[in-house]
Amino acid sequence: MTDPQIVLTERVQQALARAFGSEHADADPLIRPSQFADFQANVAMSLAKRLRRAPREVAEAIKAELSDFPGTVEVSGPGFLNITLDDSWIQSEARQMLTDPRLGVGTITPAQTVVIDYSAPNAAKEMHVGHLRTTIVGDSLARLHEHLGNTVIRQNHLGDWGTPFGMLIEHLLDIGEEAAVAQLEAGLGTEFYQAARTKFDGDDDFKLRARVRVTTLQSGDPDTMRLWHVFMDATIRYFNKVYELLGVTLTDADLAGESMYNTMLEKTCDDLEASGAAVLSEGALCLFPPGFTGSDDKPLPLIIRKSDGGYGYASTDMAAIRYRVHDLKADRILYVVGSEQALHFRMVFAAARMAGWLPDTVTAEHVQIGMMLGKDGRRFKTRSGESIKLMDLLQEAIDRAAAAISDRGYDAEMQKEIAHAVGIGAVKYADLSVSHDSEYVLDFDRMLGFTGNTAPYLQYAQARIRSIFRKGGVDPAAATGPIVLGAPAERALALQLLGFGSALAQTTADSEPHRLCAFIYATATAFTDFFEQCPVLKEGVDPDTRASRLALCALTLRVLETGLDLLGVPVPERM
Ligand code: ARG
Repeated sequence: MTDPQIVLTERVQQALARAFGSEHADADPLIRPSQFADFQANVAMSLAKRLRRAPREVAEAIKAELSDFPGTVEVSGPGFLNITLDDSWIQSEARQMLTDPRLGVGTITPAQTVVIDYSAPNAAKEMHVGHLRTTIVGDSLARLHEHLGNTVIRQNHLGDWGTPFGMLIEHLLDIGEEAAVAQLEAGLGTEFYQAARTKFDGDDDFKLRARVRVTTLQSGDPDTMRLWHVFMDATIRYFNKVYELLGVTLTDADLAGESMYNTMLEKTCDDLEASGAAVLSEGALCLFPPGFTGSDDKPLPLIIRKSDGGYGYASTDMAAIRYRVHDLKADRILYVVGSEQALHFRMVFAAARMAGWLPDTVTAEHVQIGMMLGKDGRRFKTRSGESIKLMDLLQEAIDRAAAAISDRGYDAEMQKEIAHAVGIGAVKYADLSVSHDSEYVLDFDRMLGFTGNTAPYLQYAQARIRSIFRKGGVDPAAATGPIVLGAPAERALALQLLGFGSALAQTTADSEPHRLCAFIYATATAFTDFFEQCPVLKEGVDPDTRASRLALCALTLRVLETGLDLLGVPVPERM
């Protein structure tokens, strides 16, 4: 394990055990980057309280037990331990990282089964920008968990069932299957829905047909089911086009829409009623998880069967959570869904715990996705007030990227490839680089900028390193050092690179891709400093220094590439 934060944590914990007894061996040493040293450990202050001793005295006792440490330790202020690592240690750790195919990144043991519910657009409407973020954030989390050795089960909980399908199928029959399929494949789901809706509201005959159709659909009538499949297959073909353009890892095998749970709903309700977890209230079957009250201070119900016998969103989610725990054997379930559904998920999780369907050994987390805003600070819309189509938005990003690089003299094919990587990368990175629950302003100019914490800046940083290797006629894989740290910028870069493992572990544990973004950005800036101050290929640089610097370049390249790949951001060879 090369990561200094992890190494230091272990070392300080061993020192704690030696100094104060083994019961302190797993206290968190609180290692943080420091402006006065490489790191500081703040554990002495919290421990002093428990031991009723002076913090500085505690810090000195820890220091005394760190004598075989590959660096220097100083006690400062009220009891901080300032830790500076030896260059020789950093050098050899960086070299080890370079020779390790996993870049020193460990795997989680024991591996967990992580179910990730993400994307989940609604078939009755067009996939809109709100689904963009859940798709992108969820996909990055899936990649990260897989990279760390967990078993990932992707679940695309499509909205593909419910009462609107009565009118959608009738409208499909009205305009003819062929026309309907063409429209849906083209991503005109919203228009399709609106046309059906207009008829439903204004045409009593249509309304009646739609109502009857809901019943035949729910009873599983083969003809109706066939029509439903015609509708869904066309819709899914459109979703897949978006996924392909985005480069997300979702496939048809990950589809687990609401319809999948349809046959389980009756038993879901029966079982919950039989166990006493669910009770009838005003004719509806409800769960009353503890701790939820409405504005009137009355317990808040999670309705799993309406008084007319119908099932809704909550019924499906109760069936889904049981399936994920019981059948998929999840250890951890992540719901990457809009933050406006926070109450729904808190209630579903609490209800599932209450029913005994979500044991304490399994965690369920709502990874809240903040709303996408326009530049005016309001919900993102087109000028005419409709929500914008995802495909159009992605195409615009690609077009703008193409314009930004048009003067660089690439041939048409290369130009297209780079524009795609930069445009899609920019949209994805902009979504990922702010905390997932914050509202987020869609701003093409900012996300496509070549400076600052943006995809183009990072893509450019890695392309520039590749060009160093091309110019030097060296294969990055052959740049194996040894690494010898001379200039401060070299040392700072190497130390930064060693933090990759921690960055991945933290990002994954907390479901916060923006932490990985911050790490990659800090790596790219450390590289920029290094590159400005430390010539690599210039004449007069002695061979050992050149070899060492090329090794640092190679390590940086792999960290950037791997990091961007785990975010799902494409990396163009040249830029
Ligand atoms: N289709 C829903 C929406 O667009 C999201 C589904 C999220 N997953 C779930 N298990 N409820 O709002």
